[in-house]
Amino acid sequence: MLELFPESAKVERGELEVGGLGARELAERFGTPLYVFCEETIRRRAREVREAAPGAQLVWAAKSFPNVALLRLLAEEGYGALVASLGELAFARAAGLSGEQLVVHGNAKPDEQLRAAAEAGALVVLDAEGEAARAASAGVRRVLVRATLGVEADTHEAVQTGHHGSKFGLPPDAVLRVIEEARDLGLEVAGLHVHVGSQLSDTASHEETIALLGQLVARCRDELGWAPELLDAGGGFAVRHVLEEPEAPLGALVRSVVGSVERAFAEHGLRQPALLLEPGRALVGRAGVTLYRVRSVKRLDGVTWAAVDGGMSDNPRPALYGARYTALSAARADEPATETVSVAGLHCESGDVLIDDVALPPPRAGDLLAVPATGGYTLGMSSNYNATPRPAAVLVRDGNARVIRRRETIDDLLALEQ
Ligand code: LLP
Repeated sequence: MLELFPESAKVERGELEVGGLGARELAERFGTPLYVFCEETIRRRAREVREAAPGAQLVWAAKSFPNVALLRLLAEEGYGALVASLGELAFARAAGLSGEQLVVHGNAKPDEQLRAAAEAGALVVLDAEGEAARAASAGVRRVLVRATLGVEADTHEAVQTGHHGSKFGLPPDAVLRVIEEARDLGLEVAGLHVHVGSQLSDTASHEETIALLGQLVARCRDELGWAPELLDAGGGFAVRHVLEEPEAPLGALVRSVVGSVERAFAEHGLRQPALLLEPGRALVGRAGVTLYRVRSVKRLDGVTWAAVDGGMSDNPRPALYGARYTALSAARADEPATETVSVAGLHCESGDVLIDDVALPPPRAGDLLAVPATGGYTLGMSSNYNATPRPAAVLVRDGNARVIRRRETIDDLLALEQ
């Protein structure tokens, strides 16, 4: 199961270590639940994408774990940021990213976000007819137009984005109209944007999308005399959360996108565009482990419940998407996993179950559980349900840990009340 954990993870005398630190020490120093990130894993994944797409412009989809320290770390690896809101834009600016390193997208961007994007000098992805005029009056100069080409990605329907009828992007005829509208307004239309979905572990939907994009670009050339200099192929590269899910070889997935673009453009006799990629979860998902403390154990009617000190407030994915996770008994990892356990969250609803079935050593109150592959879309989608403060996050490397987000307190929550 260690292959689901960060690269630095190992078990020493029954205890999980990440970044050279034992799970017990991490839990004692920083409390639980705790998001633990392995710096080495993030850097390696970032390099894997870069090596698979040499020369591409890379931006990290910050929504996957919005955090200033991680934005800075990835900037050291040459990554800008894809930001989906004014808040994410502010995080990226706080991390010191410049406008040229930012791509601003969203299907309902407020004027304030367009103005902030313009002020920073960021590239803006137009997502609707009429938005070009709002972007131009906000002072935006350079844009992409997001195309939706009717490809149904093989993933959970909540994270499909490129199908017919999607709320994102525009079908081909509208793309052509928006390109014209934007050019008439004096905007520089640098290129096109597609993002077909998330958690894609094979190359089929990217390939199909890019082939259709080749046809669309040929139409743009023939009908508008315009062709993109930049092609943003989005993100969506999967992370494996349980061993039953297919492996998602990041380098190979990215290489396939690069190859598809080359083929599609060559087939239509088009000049090769510069490529932009927006991986999110693929950079941070495997790097993150969540540590929980078991608070109580119940054995009822054939079900063993281990109730932990977190749940759907720190990771809503199981409740929202039926996402599967697994766990390791982090301080008893060498004991035989003889009991099938359901890991319950602490929140006041029956749907708050983090893991349906995982084999563990017979659990006891006080045990530590480590849930791997939780670096993506956990904190970013977290809530304060039941007035629960959000966990802290630490970055670990070579035996050192650094808090990159402090734990919220009840006083933080009370400070919002009037
Ligand atoms: N580019 C665009 C335009 C996006 O909308 C997204 C994610 C990405 C890139 C990055 O996708 P990634 O490489 O991380 O798959 N909350 C869901 C995922 C929503 C993804 C939203 N867009 C989940 O927990 O699975």
